[in-house]
Amino acid sequence: MSDAQDIFDPAYVKGVFDRCSSRYIGFSYFFSFGFTERWRRQCVEFLPEPESGGLTGYDLMAGTGEVWPHLLRRFPNISAITAVDISSGMHLQAIKRLHSHRSHKIAFVEDNVLASALPADSADFVVATFGLKTFNEMQHQELARLVAHALKPGGTFAFVEASDPKGWWLRPLYRFHLKVVLPLIERTVLRGAQDFAMIGTYCDAFGDARGFGAALKQEGLDVEFRKLFFGCASGVFGRKAL
Ligand SMILES: C[S@@+](CC[C@H](N)C(=O)[O-])C[C@H]1O[C@@H](n2cnc3c(N)ncnc32)[C@H](O)[C@@H]1O
Repeated sequence: MSDAQDIFDPAYVKGVFDRCSSRYIGFSYFFSFGFTERWRRQCVEFLPEPESGGLTGYDLMAGTGEVWPHLLRRFPNISAITAVDISSGMHLQAIKRLHSHRSHKIAFVEDNVLASALPADSADFVVATFGLKTFNEMQHQELARLVAHALKPGGTFAFVEASDPKGWWLRPLYRFHLKVVLPLIERTVLRGAQDFAMIGTYCDAFGDARGFGAALKQEGLDVEFRKLFFGCASGVFGRKAL
């Protein structure tokens, strides 16, 4: 990465995920010691029951669709999930992983979510797991506006993201894992790739989900904040008023 590189530029982010898409599922599961799966499940548990009856919604920054089994297990009556992701590599992996019993429920939009013009009042729910850290503050505000716009009145949302566990006594160890161990494994095992190594940099810049929660509140949504596992991840969830 050159010093001048804007790591929040959607084209740059797309490149990172296109390059690591084929190894994303295994790498994120093993090197998070299974925590990513646990945090996806918790994200879905946080999602308040939508009040609007029907169940269609968005999985933003959907990647390979790892949150869908959790969503469909908790809400078997979901009729459609629209997966939005900028990376064609991640999209292809998601399509490969689609099991026949859920393919009819999933639609794909391959686009920068901030340019995607999701229709107003079109979703009973919006979820996103690990899709916040590659946005800067201004982009978080745009995303919050989009979520408020796309949710139906009474619709609900939940977001979870890996975070910086400030104040936790094991924080140095966690940071060592993200910033030294992961890049080292990636360089040696993945023939010099440097994409997963970006996780630490993005997490540092992100902090936790409080800032995004404030942006959602500013858009008039009811928002709650939660720390997960001593702050190694954090989430915001809530509802658009009826
Ligand atoms: C860390 S992955 C998370 C994927 C998945 N949600 C999960 O739980 O594993 C982040 C995803 O966000 C997508 N992404 C990043 N910026 C985006 C943008 N501006 N618009 C749409 N997708 C974006 C990336 O392509 C990537 O697939």
